[in-house]
Amino acid sequence: MNASKGKPRRGSLTDHDQDRRGQTPTSTPSQLVSLVVDGLPITALQGQSLAAVLQTMGYLWWRRNPITQQPRGPFCGMGVCFECELLVNNQRRRACLTHVTDSMVVTTERERCMPGADL
Ligand code: FES
Repeated sequence: MNASKGKPRRGSLTDHDQDRRGQTPTSTPSQLVSLVVDGLPITALQGQSLAAVLQTMGYLWWRRNPITQQPRGPFCGMGVCFECELLVNNQRRRACLTHVTDSMVVTTERERCMPGADL
């Protein structure tokens, strides 16, 4: 801390920083939301993108290309490719642009993407 001006020197730790050292970021219950993905109740951080939540769950793809039937998942991550489409509360949405909210019901085509699934 630069005592002469009362501001911390660049790169130095403030008292607040010192108090937080060694702590890991935590979520408070008010930041958590409950949603249902393919019938499975899950908890996520409010405001996370739905694509990030699904990828955290281990989903790499969740729809099939209607023409080639290839499994598809997020590609661009910014709303351009539409490869991450799914149903949110029965409305078609792009997962990468959708932030999770409480009581959201998400339906994917993941079952159709699994090896051996009927096309
Ligand atoms: S990943 Fe491309 S639109 Fe969502």
